[in-house]
Amino acid sequence: MGFVSEKNQILSKIATNDGHGEDSPYFDGWKAYDRNPFHPTQNPQGVIQMGLAENQLSFDLIEEWIRNNPKASLCTPEGANAFRDIAIFQDYHGLPEFRKAVAKFMGRVRGNRVQFDPDRIVMGGGATGANELIMFCLADPGDAFLVPSPYYPAFDRDLGWRTGIQLVPVNCDISNNFQITRAALEEAYQKAQDGNINVKGLIVTNPSNPLGTTLDREALKSLVSFINEKSIHLVCDEIYAATVFSSPGFVSVSEVIQEMECNRDLIHIVYSLSKDMGLPGFRVGIVYSYNDAVVNCGRKMSSFGLVSSQTQYLLAAMLSDDKFMEIYLSESSKRLAKRHNIFTKGLEQVGISCLTSNAGLFCWMDLRKLLQEQTFEAEMLLWRVIINDVKLNVSPGSSFHCCEPGWYRVCFANMDDGHGTCCTEKN
Ligand SMILES: Cc1ncc(COP(=O)(O)O)c(C=O)c1O
Repeated sequence: MGFVSEKNQILSKIATNDGHGEDSPYFDGWKAYDRNPFHPTQNPQGVIQMGLAENQLSFDLIEEWIRNNPKASLCTPEGANAFRDIAIFQDYHGLPEFRKAVAKFMGRVRGNRVQFDPDRIVMGGGATGANELIMFCLADPGDAFLVPSPYYPAFDRDLGWRTGIQLVPVNCDISNNFQITRAALEEAYQKAQDGNINVKGLIVTNPSNPLGTTLDREALKSLVSFINEKSIHLVCDEIYAATVFSSPGFVSVSEVIQEMECNRDLIHIVYSLSKDMGLPGFRVGIVYSYNDAVVNCGRKMSSFGLVSSQTQYLLAAMLSDDKFMEIYLSESSKRLAKRHNIFTKGLEQVGISCLTSNAGLFCWMDLRKLLQEQTFEAEMLLWRVIINDVKLNVSPGSSFHCCEPGWYRVCFANMDDGHGTCCTEKN
């Protein structure tokens, strides 16, 4: 009958290429946890999940708000009156009250030093969808984006798998605390040019995943100058903006471009509520672009990753509750500071240090002195001991494309205070 025997041959090349990046210790660690999840009483020998950047420290505040605002949840006696209006077909612009509330929230998280226009809010399915959406709008298959390394492992999948764009790492290392230098940017840019690769932009995470550090005003200005000179785009993934728990405070690219001359058509922000509000399951992702054409194109694309109207409705009410949001943001940051402090102090007591950080849901842990030799093979050997014997899922630096071995990302906010166990089984 002419059946094709090999599975791969009947599927598309794009679906079966390895662009998902699933063959990585980052995802292997999650699988190890899934196979044998720790539970304080039922499975005390299981793997503890410290590989998931979730923020579960302030759920009690959100739960209380939900209880106090039953109208905002449509599936309650109090909310059912609005059910029909919200359940019917929605267009890809999103509910006006949702866009307004998100714009206000984005401003609040940035200290109200900058205002966001609700008409520039474009929805995506989490920052994952938003990041892919912006790449789709800005680059063609084969084009490249520069990305400072170490970088979020799933960027390979999110930015490149379906769009066909490639990532060119900008190598950063401990010699200057992993800061992005102009020299490193120029080197990566030049290397791409030498390889005949068309560089369309630079994407940075600020605050950084995995470093937990923030870019200061000067650093941001220097990035904006760089992309301006090269006439390439700058995408700032700011999804950890409100996880800043100690000084220096967060500075957004949106503030910096108010203070300097630049072509705003090149500036785009990706945001989500997954980290700042701890709601990754709600899949709220945002592209905020200063470029009209990108807003228009992105909006058409957003049909593929709409946020459910029920979620929009609930969040519109929550995010516009000024009193609640003020309390939530301040309390969340305090709790993160406390957890970070307990965690890093505990590590210090056993002689382990971390890169100094002021944000994020993780630490960048320095285990170089525990490596048998300074190689990535030794890093993986140690990682296997940590996951198999110590039973902790932490993520090795190589999965973040770190250019030097011995660093591991360890997440500290996905465990509840009560019994130190993980509340989540999957991302
Ligand atoms: C830098 C960065 N961007 C994007 C994402 C994806 O976030 P979301 O859950 O909103 O899709 C993550 C998740 O860990 C991340 O760390």
